[in-house]
Amino acid sequence: MIVLGIESTAHTFGVGIVKDGKIIANERDTYKPKEGIIPREAMEHHYDVAPSIIQRALEKANVKLSDIDLYAYSQGPGIPSCLRVGYEISRYLSNKSKKKLIGVNHSIAHLEIARYFTGFDDPVMLYVSGGNTQIIVYKEGKYRVFGETQDIGVGNLIDRVGRALNIPFPAGPKIEELAKKGSKYIEIPYVIKGMDVSFSGIETHIKKLIGKESAENIAYSLQETVFSMLIEAAERAMAYCNKDSLVITGGVAANKRLNEMGKIMCEERNAKFKEIPLEYAGDNGAMIAYTGYLMKDYEQIDLKPIRNYRTDAVEIKYRKW
Ligand SMILES: Nc1ncnc2c1ncn2[C@@H]1O[C@H](COP(=O)(O)OP(=O)(O)OP(=O)(O)O)[C@@H](O)[C@H]1O
Ligand SMILES: [Mg+2]
Repeated sequence: MIVLGIESTAHTFGVGIVKDGKIIANERDTYKPKEGIIPREAMEHHYDVAPSIIQRALEKANVKLSDIDLYAYSQGPGIPSCLRVGYEISRYLSNKSKKKLIGVNHSIAHLEIARYFTGFDDPVMLYVSGGNTQIIVYKEGKYRVFGETQDIGVGNLIDRVGRALNIPFPAGPKIEELAKKGSKYIEIPYVIKGMDVSFSGIETHIKKLIGKESAENIAYSLQETVFSMLIEAAERAMAYCNKDSLVITGGVAANKRLNEMGKIMCEERNAKFKEIPLEYAGDNGAMIAYTGYLMKDYEQIDLKPIRNYRTDAVEIKYRKW
């Protein structure tokens, strides 16, 4: 069975192809705004690149459009105008070929791709991206959110600090680079309440440091503080839920320092940790195709985009327990 998956929830238009549960193509193009994402521009970007990205993925996988047995698209959460692109294109392709269409929850796709690459069956999952920050554990048919951000996502915090430092969007990779050169730890509020974290107070605090402290030390202190908060919450989830493995997924999972902290924490408690490949940390089509493959037998009534599609709204019927 060959599945073609389309990702278009925010800045990235991605197409992935999965054959019998194995990824055989993953192509994408990312809209790069000067400041924040302008929904209309992102939508136009996605429509512009769609034909060539689909073509590239088919060539990479060495298959034809007529070989596709199932289509999957990223149904939400995301920016409505962007979600629409994936919906319209996948619906057109599936209607034309009379093949089934599956709507995939974007957050769950980030989790499933992490399980795919680590081989961990039942890990605690730290899902960290621009829009989302959640600590998730699977229990009785659902991915349950044990802790999350009370305001913005950690990637969004990094991007906002980046913007204040004149770093173009997305700022994550550049902040990581700067952090490596930082040497002085500046005290920053450490905001964790139970299993939840919050970043907007940290944003305000850090912005006041700009001009007084070097960008390197700011980046270093930012990473050390917020990543410690996340790893602390993840560790508590592992202890509470008695889990012996951790995966980190989502765009911020590209960060080496965050992965290193996760690894150290797991080593200290005799748990397993594995990094996921950089290419699959951020938004990508392969994770949508793969999750679509897992959901191939689902009957879905409503296939329209769901802007605030929650991780714990989806009934997971493909897991055996
Ligand atoms: N090396 C890095 N270190 C830290 N953050 C990073 C790094 N690389 C990318 N990021 C951040 O990851 C985020 C993008 O994540 P992703 O591609 O999953 O998209 P998203 O739109 O945020 O997705 P979601 O809908 O899942 O929230 C951006 O905020 C970006 O700055
Ligand atoms: Mg994402």
